[in-house]
Amino acid sequence: MLTTKFIDIPPLSGVAGAVRVPGSKSISNRALLLAGFASGTTVIEGVLDSDDTRVMIDALVQLGCGIEAAPHRLTVRGVGGRPALKNATFFLGNAGTAMRPLTATLALFAASSDASFELRGTPRMHERPIGDLVDALRGLGCSVECLEKEGYPPLRVSAGKGPLSFAAPLRVRGDVSSQFLSALLLALPLRAEPVDAVIEVAGELISKPYVDITLKLLAAFGIAVEREGSQRFRLAAGQQLRSPGRFAVEGDASSASYFIAAGAIGAVDAPLRIEGIDSGSIQGDIAFADAVRAMGATIESGEGWLAVRRGRWPLAAIDLDCNPLPDAAMTLASLALFADGPSTLRNIASWRVKETDRLAAMASELRKVGASVEEGPDFLTITPPRAWRAASVATYDDHRMAMAMSLAAFNPLAGGNVPVRILDPRCVGKTWPDYFEALFSVARARREAVPVLAIDGPTASGKGTLAREVAAALGYRLLDSGAVYRATAVAALDAGIEAENADALAALAASLELRFDGDRCLLGGRDVTESLRLEEVGAMASRISAWPAVRAAVLDAQLGFRDVPGLVADGRDMGSVVFPDAELKVFLTAGPAERADRRYKQLISKGIPANIDSLRADLEARDARDRNRSASPLKPAEGALMLDNSALSIEASVDVVLKAWQERRPFDQSPDRPAVGPV
Ligand code: C5P
Repeated sequence: MLTTKFIDIPPLSGVAGAVRVPGSKSISNRALLLAGFASGTTVIEGVLDSDDTRVMIDALVQLGCGIEAAPHRLTVRGVGGRPALKNATFFLGNAGTAMRPLTATLALFAASSDASFELRGTPRMHERPIGDLVDALRGLGCSVECLEKEGYPPLRVSAGKGPLSFAAPLRVRGDVSSQFLSALLLALPLRAEPVDAVIEVAGELISKPYVDITLKLLAAFGIAVEREGSQRFRLAAGQQLRSPGRFAVEGDASSASYFIAAGAIGAVDAPLRIEGIDSGSIQGDIAFADAVRAMGATIESGEGWLAVRRGRWPLAAIDLDCNPLPDAAMTLASLALFADGPSTLRNIASWRVKETDRLAAMASELRKVGASVEEGPDFLTITPPRAWRAASVATYDDHRMAMAMSLAAFNPLAGGNVPVRILDPRCVGKTWPDYFEALFSVARARREAVPVLAIDGPTASGKGTLAREVAAALGYRLLDSGAVYRATAVAALDAGIEAENADALAALAASLELRFDGDRCLLGGRDVTESLRLEEVGAMASRISAWPAVRAAVLDAQLGFRDVPGLVADGRDMGSVVFPDAELKVFLTAGPAERADRRYKQLISKGIPANIDSLRADLEARDARDRNRSASPLKPAEGALMLDNSALSIEASVDVVLKAWQERRPFDQSPDRPAVGPV
């Protein structure tokens, strides 16, 4: 998961390959809640692991459910309708799918016991209305207090003044959020009163497909609901929540929408495969696929997969009632950037009460990339950019803002050539913590479009640490080119090849099966990470890297590291030879005494005996060899930022480099841009 303050997505020119979407948030949280209150143990497969499900899981654990996690599955031991807990405060983040149903469930439970519970969330959660649900619960006789502002969380639910009354139908508004109706449906099986319960929906029910999901989940847990259209729902008396034993959560259709869209925009040569979901999904947002077909894409589906390919280009503009697919419709707003004229998304007033006011947020951020946008009370009209702008996109702590707006990075396919900066990319943790990793695994960019930050300098100058920290702060890939030479040296020592045998070394270097996996270096599948740091290996690397044929042999492998979203490369010739077009080149110049001292401390701290004088002599000999060799001698690249870090802490060096990087980026440099540096 990305934890950087921003992520810069380079201009993307296509997508290829396959992605697996995480489990559906709505299904996961409903399944968790029902399994938690049911009798029996449920194994939930494919459950989403994200901020919103974690708050639900934490709440269930507080209530006394036994929950065991294994990869991709959770085992939930339900409390059989009657939690033992009597007093607690639940923190539910900004998860509507936890706050609403838990409010209803705990209110009904508290009504027939002497329990008292508080439900709280983030400041934004305390701005999201819940009054309609509170009114419906009070109508039954539940005791629900709004602790700060009437109609909003935080709330306290506690014992009522007697049995609840189901004589008259419960009335709930359906036109603000269908989650109120869903919450009541999920909670009513817990009523203590042995009578039928009837819910009547006032006003037009929005987001109907979510209610269908609720009913399907209830059915899986043994509760039949008779419905008359979308207006009346009856739960007959005498039904208990029972575990189905096993429940499989399908992939999230809203999450899939970003890749369906990416396929419609950028899968030119072959379809993009999306796994974990198919056209038979029970989620309303799967209708997004139809909207994208209408815009021109070709979409095929088989069991558990979709395959999306670009068809008509540019996409056909649309005018659509988005009520059935409120979440995925945000993705349509981004697709509208690639259409052949203005598109209008209608009936999206519910966007205003989501994680943020999504209507205003989307309008403002789409404008930043160059679109013209008309924002109505319940619609958006989006005209594609005539000129794309490198935008720093705010995300309002809203995962869907980040994911939807990331699609603007495909602008080279519509006449642009600009990167997109997404601020606070961590917000995707709400539903898809690894969204950006998934995007980068299928996104393609022209190599020249991928930014490179080169850090060169003599041995033991601290390049490695600096490069690692800078790469982590930017969310970029890392190339430790010294490790490539060291791994070659390990292979040469193993094979008994002499440092003088240039031809054999070059052949060896060209055939190396070298892979970096996080901090580990694998040579032909063998982990050689520890060997790389041996002095003997360093000395051999220094000698063999002087051969032009060896350098030529590793060049392609080094160039291959330049991939989306960007690269920080450290070595001797990263800025001067390997990546001469690097956006920023840094040359470290710490003196030999300081460097010898650092290496000495490094070795001693690892329990390796060392002598500072011989270390210094060795450093100077390596410097001389690096400087005087004919191929790629060590020297600052033209235009390099010279950084003497002898007296600088690592943090201070990282700051200098990140500041220089920011200055070279094309984004607007207004004062509200984020502070640089690792979080
Ligand atoms: O940076 P490090 O000390 O790990 O590099 C090992 C050796 O590889 C260095 O002594 C240097 O001679 C060589 N090297 C190089 N070009 C690079 C990186 C390292 O010649 N880009």
